[in-house]
Parts: sequence; C-alpha cells; structure tokens
Amino acid sequence: MSGHGDPIPMTSRACGALSGEAHVPGDKSISHRSLILGAMAVGETKVSGLLEGQDVLDTGRAMQAFGAGVINHGGGNWSVHGVGVGGFAEPDQVIDCGNSGTGVRLIMGAMATSPITATFTGDASLNGRPMGRITDPLALFGTQSYGRKNGRLPMTIVGAQDAAPVRYTVPMPSAQVKSAVLLAGLNAAGETVVIEKEATRDHSERMLTGFGANLSVEDTSEGRVITLQGQPELKPQTITVPRDPSSAAFPVCAGIVAQGSEVLVPGIGLNPTRAGLFTTLQEMGADLTFENMREEGGEPVADLRAKFSDNMKGIEVPPERAASMIDEYPVLSVVAAFATGKTVMRGVKELRVKESDRIDAMARGLEACGVTIEEDEDTFIVHGMGAGGVPGGGTCATHLDHRIAMSFMVLGLGTEKPVHIDDGGPIATSFPIFEDLMRDLGANITRD
Ligand code: S3P
Repeated sequence: MSGHGDPIPMTSRACGALSGEAHVPGDKSISHRSLILGAMAVGETKVSGLLEGQDVLDTGRAMQAFGAGVINHGGGNWSVHGVGVGGFAEPDQVIDCGNSGTGVRLIMGAMATSPITATFTGDASLNGRPMGRITDPLALFGTQSYGRKNGRLPMTIVGAQDAAPVRYTVPMPSAQVKSAVLLAGLNAAGETVVIEKEATRDHSERMLTGFGANLSVEDTSEGRVITLQGQPELKPQTITVPRDPSSAAFPVCAGIVAQGSEVLVPGIGLNPTRAGLFTTLQEMGADLTFENMREEGGEPVADLRAKFSDNMKGIEVPPERAASMIDEYPVLSVVAAFATGKTVMRGVKELRVKESDRIDAMARGLEACGVTIEEDEDTFIVHGMGAGGVPGGGTCATHLDHRIAMSFMVLGLGTEKPVHIDDGGPIATSFPIFEDLMRDLGANITRD
C-alpha cells in the first residue's frame, strides 16, 4: 500500500513500573526472505510465525503478482507455492512495496535475471530512498532500470535474458544490497560472488543454504566472500520465524527507562549479526540479562529480562558494531538520554537513508524534549541527563518511520512530561501489536 491513511497522533506518559511478558512478532528480515525464497522454490514452503506487518504483507502480494501462490492459514501460518528459480511471470500491475526498502530491493534482485519487466513504487518514504545501490550491481547482470532522477522509485526493471554471473564488492554495509545480488545470481548460470567488507545480517546466506542452494562463505583479507552457484533447484522448506530482535528492542528499552520496571521478552533471536544493541546496553550498565540460552532453527535464541536501570553511563559505541544494530540506533539514542555522560555513535551515516533520515528525526525530537545533541553526516552524540532527568514535553515528527515512532513512545515512559508523536500509523509496518503489547505491560500510550 502506498499510503497510511490519516495520521495517528499518539502520546506516551510515565506511569510507573512496567511488568510482565512481551511476546514480540516474527522477524521482519526473515519473514520477507521466507516469502521470496518460498516463491523461488519448487513446491510448497510452510511458514509459521510470519510477521503480519504491512511491509511483509506487501511482499506477499508482490510474490502473488509474480505468479507464486501465497496463502494465509491464520494464526501466523502461511504457505507459499513457489514457481522455481527463473519461473517468475511478468506482473500485470505495478508492484507497490509500501514502506519497505527490504521488500522492494530484494524483489528487484529476485526478478532481475528473468526476462520479464516490472514497475515498482512505494509510499512517499520509499519513493525518496536510493535505489542506485541496487540497480548498479543488477546492471552487471544485464538488467536495465528506468527510474526517476537520482535512481528513485517509481522504477521499471527490465530483467536480463541469459544473465551472466557477476563478482561484486558491496560499497556500503548493506544486507539488502548483498541479498539483492545473491537473489539475482540465482538465475545466472555459473558462479556469482559477493564480497562485503563488513559483515551484515546473514539471513539470506543461511536461508539460501537451507533451501538447498550451493553457497559458501569465506573470511578473507578482502572481506567476507560469498560464492553462489547459479540455477539451483530450490527445495521448499518448513520455516519457523524467530521473534524479531529489532522489535524486542522496544519493550526491552521501555523496561530499562520506565521507573521500577521488570519486563521479560522471551524467545528472541540473537544472531550475532543482529544483537549489537543488547551488548551495547549491557556495556552502558543497563540491567539486561539473557536467560535460557538455546538454539532454535539454527539460530541462537534467549529470553531477555530487562529491569529499570538508574545507573547507566554513556559510552562510545564501537563503529564496527554498527551493522549489527543498525535499526536500533534510534531507540539506543532514547536510552542514552537517560544515562549520564555522552553516548557517541560513529560510522552511522547509513541511518540517513533509512525509512527517514534517522539521525535528523531523532535529533530534532530529542531536542524538542530537552536533550542536547551533536551530529555530523556520520556521527550522532547524545548528552545523557540521567534517569529521571529528561524533561520530555515535545511533539516529535515521525516522517513515515515506524522505528522513530516507537522510539519516541519509549522515551515518554521515562520523561517528566508526556512525549507526543505526530503519526504512529507507520508502526503497523513492522509491529502491528505494539500498542496492545505495551499497554499489557502497563504502559500509558494513547491515541490522541
Ligand atoms: C535489512 C537490512 C538493513 C535494515 C533493514 C532490514 C534486511 O538495511 O536496516 O531494516 O532485511 O536485509 P540495509 O541493508 O540498507 O542496511
């Protein structure tokens, strides 16, 4: 869907202790990939725990438009009837990926080496995001793209006929770019090689291997070298989607900043390429523990217990950790406001090309709530005011960005005065049960 309807202004207020268990939805990255890889396998892939957020629903609709069968059996159980690598049909409608950069970029990769044409669009946020980072490597396969100025959507992609495999070094740390090239490589005869200088989330590699692709990963002086043999027959899978660490971040951080709280967030995937926030929170002195560490579906999983933490210190977040917590910087900047001293986040310029310019969005909202910020293109510094020391009282613009909206709702749970947002509608893209889940913990989050 390319709009969110009327804005939904919301307010969050401190109301004492949060308590209880927060069962967050399925992982967004893995949900997108389950539908896309399911559509590229031959036969029926069964998925349980799928995130039923708008981003993922848009990807499901897109897979149907390319000829796959996508069926909702209820209760988070879905099945995908795949058409095989190279089996995509040409869609007879524009593919609307709504708010989702992951959706559009991975789908462009998946169709780029089939001799079909498709036109992609999205909402105002997505149509402002750079697609050149995808179309540049896809051009090496012979794929053509016709977008707006500066490589923006709406954009038409003409898939390559008889695509040649490529060797590509990803110029920025981006799992979306890496994944788009790997998905395109599936229908190119021969060996496609993708090199990333910094490791990013590795769900595509793990899942491609699970679906039966021949893929190897080697750590070399050049970086992580991923080699994929083209034109495999992907075998349908039964997938249980783990709960999303990026969504878990919100109730975890709420437990840390709301006075007297103790919150348990069970069954969270702790893939090291995703878990950087939790390490950072512990380094700041947050009372966060991992319980019942186990392995589920090949991924490390734990129950996270977060308690109100009134003795946190600002830290310098190691820049090499950025990729493993890239979506969590907005909520980290909220926690940092309740620590004492500066929290310094360097090497974070990718935040400027997410659903919004996340450094700018958080900086302006935190300032409106009385917090001092420093920033440059690649750096974000929050001057902490200590637990109980953040005034609040501001109205924060969310810029069609779900994580900005949820971060400011967490902020208001620890500030002196309420925190308002102009639009909580985008929360439904990744965390449709956020308001209910937070209220069940005892949070005072209301629609105005
Ligand atoms: C994602 C990769 C990241 C992340 C996004 C999900 C993915 O984006 O921010 O929310 O599923 O591959 P980039 O690849 O642009 O860093």
